Amino acid sequence: MGAISRRMVLGWAAIGLGGIVTGVASCGTGQPTPSGSPLVTAPTGNAPSGNPPTAQLAEPPVLRSENGLLEVAMTAVAGATKLAGRTVRAAGYDGRVPGPTLRVRPGDRMVITLRNALAETTNLHTHGLLVSPQGNGDNPFVEIEPGESFTYEIALPDDHPPGVFWYHPHHHGMVADQVFAGLFGAIVVEDADEIPVTRERVLVISDVTITGGGGGGGGAGAVASAGPADRMMGREGETVLVNGQVRPVLNARPGERERWRVVNACVSRFLDLRLSGQDLTLLGLDSGRVPSPSRVDAVVLAPGNRADLLVETRAGTSLLEAEPVDRGAPMGMMRGARPVASVVTLAELVVDGAVAGALDRVPTAPAPLDLSATPVARTREITLGIGMGPRMGVGMMSFTIDGKEFDPDRTDLAVPLGDVEEWTLVNSSPMDHPFHLHVWPMQVIRIGSQQQSEPTWRDVVNVPAGQGTVVRVAFDRHPGRTVYHCHILDHEDLGMMGVIEVA
Ligand code: C2O
Ligand code: CU
Ligand code: CU
Repeated sequence: MGAISRRMVLGWAAIGLGGIVTGVASCGTGQPTPSGSPLVTAPTGNAPSGNPPTAQLAEPPVLRSENGLLEVAMTAVAGATKLAGRTVRAAGYDGRVPGPTLRVRPGDRMVITLRNALAETTNLHTHGLLVSPQGNGDNPFVEIEPGESFTYEIALPDDHPPGVFWYHPHHHGMVADQVFAGLFGAIVVEDADEIPVTRERVLVISDVTITGGGGGGGGAGAVASAGPADRMMGREGETVLVNGQVRPVLNARPGERERWRVVNACVSRFLDLRLSGQDLTLLGLDSGRVPSPSRVDAVVLAPGNRADLLVETRAGTSLLEAEPVDRGAPMGMMRGARPVASVVTLAELVVDGAVAGALDRVPTAPAPLDLSATPVARTREITLGIGMGPRMGVGMMSFTIDGKEFDPDRTDLAVPLGDVEEWTLVNSSPMDHPFHLHVWPMQVIRIGSQQQSEPTWRDVVNVPAGQGTVVRVAFDRHPGRTVYHCHILDHEDLGMMGVIEVA
């Protein structure tokens, strides 16, 4: 195999590896399912033994700020953990998967003391928050050694957008393993104007492969480790979990309005979510609210993306499902090497009983900022690539940005504070890379050839195989040094990450 040529990449794209749009897809744009209909699901999908079929969705404990302050002490620990209805050797914040949900308001301060009870280095990142990356803020360069503690202080600006965010470790080289093992949790930033709902749920979706222990409910197993091929592809666990559970049940009455905060905490898996038979409205994706919330049939979440959804319930039983998403494969790996993915059932929503009374209407959100007509200080091209490299000695291709693997001591991009920039993210490889920038949200101008018709803000945006995605970023506050990377966390760990400094 030689270096990746442009033509080769385009060839790969032409045989259908590209084209996943992160955001909202309308009905019929999803991949065809093996059964030919998204409504028909093999009952065997994602329902290993050991999980009673009637288990109710359990939610992580909620820690809420008081008088502008949320003080949290958490321990990252590995050991016997309840996961997928079994006791598994995994990891978790305070020993649970997911960790506690942190609920804050704009203007709040979070003081989080993380104790590292793992046998390896870790740290903490508050994904998606518009906060300072400096010092003991949302600083991905912090290293917390085994047995040590570190106290983060994260100050949310008064105008911080509402939405669902999340936290996870960010120590380079170990991020995928630690997230896969169970280290993640949700953060909710509340709305200024409360949205009237019957109830709110947090659904943190993750995937895992559990080895050993056998089935039958109760045998101890362990979270599987990933080999070189898994890492190059980006590992996808065999079992997809909601709040650490396999196919939990949610109950509601008809006519209710639920708000679902959905996090894609999978290391590499894209989620093309469906909930047939119910009225689904997308309120927001990543942060803030969409300009005009509308009914959707599907929501595609790249790894790291979150959705803020309203579900207006109708009588009947509906399945929350994830359709398979083809995100390509590294070169030299046969497409057939991966088993053909099928629809995965994530949860079951049972709606019955007396019809609930009507709620007040959903307040409209302020119009989002729009940079599409703003003069930009400069444009840049940033290339995500896979190729031959020093890792070939260990059977691993190199995963690079602008031809370089991550080096924490090198600053790749220097941006003057206050500038607006336009970035063309180019994917020269035959697989999709969801691009993530810390601290400063990105306004998506186009993905591939698909121009955005209204202001679309993301902190993770897909760059389809062999294509380009254009974003604009206002570096208007929070000077400091932080990172941008592929949110297929295996790729990040393999080097597809760069350092940006805003000053
Ligand atoms: Cu969710 Cu830098 O990551
Ligand atoms: Cu992040
Ligand atoms: Cu990637």
